[in-house]
Amino acid sequence: MANKLGIFPASGGLGGSTLRHLLRQVPANEVVLVARSPERLSNEEAAGAIIRKADYDIVQTLEHSFDEISSLNLISYASIQHEHRFNAHKSAIDAARKSGVKHIFYSSLAFAGDGNPDTKAQVMLAHLATEKYLAQLHDQNPQFTYTVIREGLYSESFPLYTAFFDLKAPSNEICIPHDGSGPGIAWAKQDELGEATANLIAQHAQDPAAFPYLNKIVLLSGPRALSLNETAEVFSRVLNKTIKVRQVSVDEYVKQPQVQSGLTYGGGNWAPLWATAFDGIRDGECAVVTPHLAQILGREPEQFETTIKNMVLT
Ligand SMILES: NC(=O)c1ccc[n+]([C@@H]2O[C@H](COP(=O)([O-])OP(=O)(O)OC[C@H]3O[C@@H](n4cnc5c(N)ncnc54)[C@H](OP(=O)(O)O)[C@@H]3O)[C@@H](O)[C@H]2O)c1
Repeated sequence: MANKLGIFPASGGLGGSTLRHLLRQVPANEVVLVARSPERLSNEEAAGAIIRKADYDIVQTLEHSFDEISSLNLISYASIQHEHRFNAHKSAIDAARKSGVKHIFYSSLAFAGDGNPDTKAQVMLAHLATEKYLAQLHDQNPQFTYTVIREGLYSESFPLYTAFFDLKAPSNEICIPHDGSGPGIAWAKQDELGEATANLIAQHAQDPAAFPYLNKIVLLSGPRALSLNETAEVFSRVLNKTIKVRQVSVDEYVKQPQVQSGLTYGGGNWAPLWATAFDGIRDGECAVVTPHLAQILGREPEQFETTIKNMVLT
């Protein structure tokens, strides 16, 4: 029966969290896990589910990977690049449509505020293009539906926004191309985003027609926005050490060794492109707080400071 729930890629941080929470609500034999590295799926979690191997970068592997799936959670290709990343998403969406997938939950990102189509952050461009493509597909064929989940900026991903500040070897200064003042970031805990995403998938599966987020963008933000100065104050409190943001030029920012190494992968150095994220933050793109995460979880989301304290303890 073509009524299964799919996750692709299922083996990463967000996909794994979504999977764990989804399996608390639906039987494993109703789930299809598609992954580039199926061996990274834990045997315990994947037991009973259909497992398939597919790679965003090898288009033919996507063919038939989404067969039997009615609702697919498509998690973005891990990159900050625009065209290549969008093309990867488009190939997966086209393959899913060919397989008969009726609804796509696209895990987008919480730049560009609550549903805006514009951004200053390079990292958001492929997401916006994918969101637009899904809307176009729905316009062409209203039987096909989608939900864009703009997943909040993970609390755990603070290194990306703090020049790779290291909780285990903390520096006194965070040197970024931003003065640290507000607006900031409505940090959200990754596992709570996975839990909320799973809740949405399960709710939609129960009664697709009554699903409140059909053909909509839903922004899952954390409970409050912290400026980057307030973020540094959290580190100061948790580590009992004074830590300050110091604004530097983009050139100085990208030359820092930890920024160079943290943003060099896949044959490229992405630091200059990544620096545009600070322009988006400055414009308030990541500071929008919505009630959705709390409503979907049925409780208040975890505060950034609590997540950081727990990270220091582990
Ligand atoms: N919301 C945020 O704050 C935030 C923060 C960081 C990143 N992100 C983005 O959100 C998405 C999910 O993040 P995450 O934290 O779950 O990342 P993650 O833990 O690094 O997982 C990445 C996943 O993508 C898979 N993958 C990589 N290249 C692939 C390919 N060519 N074909 C198929 N699968 C591939 C990996 O599979 P393997 O197991 O085979 O490696 C893994 O399952 C990514 O696009 C990431 O860039 C969001």
